[in-house]
Amino acid sequence: MTTNDLVGIAQAMVADDKGLLAIDESIGSCNRRFAALGIPQTAERRRAWRELIVTTPGLRQSISGAILCDETIRQKPNGGASFAQLLDVAGLLVGIKVDAGTIELAGHPGEKITEGLDGLHARLGTYVEMGARFAKWRGVITIESERPSRGCVEANAHALARYAAICQQAGLVPIVEPEVLMDGTHGLTRCAEVTEAVLRAFFRHADEQGVVLEAMILKPNMVLPGLLSTIQEDVDTVADATVKCLLHTVPASVPGIAFLSGGQSGELASARLNAMNIRFRGHLPWQLSFSFARAIQYPALQIWAGHDEHVQAAQAALMHRARCNQAARRGAYDATLDVAPVAASVQ
Ligand code: 13P
Repeated sequence: MTTNDLVGIAQAMVADDKGLLAIDESIGSCNRRFAALGIPQTAERRRAWRELIVTTPGLRQSISGAILCDETIRQKPNGGASFAQLLDVAGLLVGIKVDAGTIELAGHPGEKITEGLDGLHARLGTYVEMGARFAKWRGVITIESERPSRGCVEANAHALARYAAICQQAGLVPIVEPEVLMDGTHGLTRCAEVTEAVLRAFFRHADEQGVVLEAMILKPNMVLPGLLSTIQEDVDTVADATVKCLLHTVPASVPGIAFLSGGQSGELASARLNAMNIRFRGHLPWQLSFSFARAIQYPALQIWAGHDEHVQAAQAALMHRARCNQAARRGAYDATLDVAPVAASVQ
């Protein structure tokens, strides 16, 4: 895999107004979402849910690639082909989450560092053989009165840059996901300050580590007020704050920015992405796209609820959110028309 090949994959990941679909929740996160809906928390049900997603008819019209987790990429769907083969047949690029989750950052109570750098190069080789073309690593930053600390921002930015360089060496396009969490009472301005500091730190470390910016995708949070903030700004204010922060920090050579949804509702995530693409169309050096998990999956998961007879209705709901987000990339999302299809069998 040459650098030019990687650049071509990165561009394809954000081409044609499509976006990415994250189905890489850890076993623990997936189980928590299943438990809330009374779905059995088994490897077989997790496989069934992910198989439902990747076999959704027409997914390729709105989605360029899907991010799997280690369990899924090793599972065999019912037909016997691997998930990577199913995605390939469906016309989607195969992605893989390669971080090993977060632990408490030593010396920084209440803050997290992401593990998984040791032995990463060898693990990536296995994923490439399994068909992966891109990877993902998530760093987690919390906002509280004295947090994040400089130590936490620097440690996570360094880990993300090392991960990105190792991915490119191994022949995978890195998705770099520094997530500033929405939890808390902070306002929009504080989120903007922290997100700017985190992105600045990442690109400084990326430069030091020799990351090829043309061959990576950035997956940041939108700039949002905390979930418990008393002031919840409108969609246009959020769009302006987010793009301003990105213009301050993200080099023009990065081909695409694919937002995480972070716990926003599907409708709000679409509306905010849409507003960015309306207000800044033609004035930005990078594509503004999506790499959502909850904001695409959640309505479909509620409909499926673990029942095989609801597969088609759940796929229709998934496709609906995928199309809404594709429309948002064009600035053509209409919230008044955002009514998800629900099949008679599950009404
Ligand atoms: P959400 O869109 O649900 O935030 O998930 C994105 C993701 O990939 C988390 O790592």
